[in-house]
Amino acid sequence: MKSLIVYSSQTGNTKKLADVCHDTLTGDTDIYHVNEAPEPDSYDLIAVGFWLQQGKPDPLSMDYLSRIPKGKKIFLFATHAAAKGSDHATQAMDYAVTLLKEPTIVGTFSCQGEANPKILEKAKGKPQPPAWLKDAPQAVGHPDTADMNALKQMIKNI
Ligand SMILES: Cc1cc2nc3c(=O)[nH]c(=O)nc-3n(C[C@H](O)[C@H](O)[C@H](O)COP(=O)(O)O)c2cc1C
Repeated sequence: MKSLIVYSSQTGNTKKLADVCHDTLTGDTDIYHVNEAPEPDSYDLIAVGFWLQQGKPDPLSMDYLSRIPKGKKIFLFATHAAAKGSDHATQAMDYAVTLLKEPTIVGTFSCQGEANPKILEKAKGKPQPPAWLKDAPQAVGHPDTADMNALKQMIKNI
């Protein structure tokens, strides 16, 4: 089986998860930042990692997800400041799935990722601060070892 890992990451959180996927997936596995990723046609399994922006996958990842041809095995992973398992995080993952064509989803994983303090300041200053902001203090230090071990376990079971 030929696998491709494509990730988007501004501050390194999602890249940490991508590296775990790369270290854990067996067989022929390529890894690329979304800006340099090849077209996914020749791969059997495609793992796409994104960070959340405005409650959705970041725009580069949304674009890549929509270019994946139908019928592929897909693993999705994400980081976000919102709490793990929150409606916000779940809805963003569900939205990512809607961008795919007839996928076979072999798994999804998401966890908190520490947000850039400058972004937090900016978000706090908005007339209506985003709901995920209240969870941001708990995101500090994530993804941590426990997050990465949980992802590793999930990948091993694919
Ligand atoms: C412009 C911007 C918008 C963000 N919007 C959200 C959001 O809507 N929901 C959320 O949970 N986190 C949001 N975050 C936090 C990031 O998704 C989170 O810190 C993520 O782990 C960053 O991943 P990276 O280090 O791979 O870039 C936002 C961060 C930035 C910079």
